[in-house]
Amino acid sequence: MAESEIEQAAEILRDCTCLLVFAGAGLSAESGIPTFRDQGGLWEEHRVEDVATPEGFRRDPALVWRFYAERQQQLATVRPNPGHFALARMEQVFAPDGFLLVTQNIDDLSERAGSRQIAKIHGDLMAVWCTRCSWRGSMDEPLQPEGLLADERTLPSCPECGSLARPGIVWFGESLPKAVINQALAFSLQAEAILIVGTSGAVSGGYGLAENVAALGGGVIELNPQETCLSHLANVCIRASSAEALPALLAVL
Ligand code: APR
Repeated sequence: MAESEIEQAAEILRDCTCLLVFAGAGLSAESGIPTFRDQGGLWEEHRVEDVATPEGFRRDPALVWRFYAERQQQLATVRPNPGHFALARMEQVFAPDGFLLVTQNIDDLSERAGSRQIAKIHGDLMAVWCTRCSWRGSMDEPLQPEGLLADERTLPSCPECGSLARPGIVWFGESLPKAVINQALAFSLQAEAILIVGTSGAVSGGYGLAENVAALGGGVIELNPQETCLSHLANVCIRASSAEALPALLAVL
């Protein structure tokens, strides 16, 4: 691994009392959840427009619900990897107020590894939102994909108004949830460093967080095997996998 980059990153982190982590699909890749942009525009063999846009849901809500039911089922087959556990430990190092994990991931692997200070800016696989009223809830159990048919009566509905419910995921073309992104932005104004893990940065959100930290003189560390559109903001780029490099970073803190 890139030992000298780890040491440079550790120097930034040792001086830091308030750390923002911005994570993407790469963090969960080594748990067996595929990333998005490494798959040529397909997501688990579906076109992203069909399963991750409001238009796709309007066109075929049963297909979209089945797709997310499969992702929910997948959660039971995967486990947090050493990267998730290292971030949960880092949170304790910076506790109680000096840490926030802003994640684009909709899985629950960070929570299962012990992270508590999390802002999920793209929603959550188990969340469910009404398409008509403001009701928002969460499922206790994964849905069974086979039971979800074209007949809307088989699809989840709102307990308040009875309308069709949708997965609680922020799709392409939708705005990020205001309260959560405001929390992330506010934290970026007090953070002394940002650690960007496993994200291509191709979707808006991360750029503003890293720019805020950099503009206020904070350190920017990128951890990603590949160069990304956020790399030019970084003081240090660790070109390694997160399951390998996050425990190494924790160890030198
Ligand atoms: N460790 C660290 N990084 C990794 C690893 C790994 N083991 N494996 C892959 N990566 C990196 C890739 O190099 C890539 O830069 O993870 C990144 C994954 O990028 P994306 O697939 O674009 O995922 P992400 O940045 O999270 O995408 C943002 O786009 O489709 C939407 O809503 C979806 O949340 C998602 C968002």
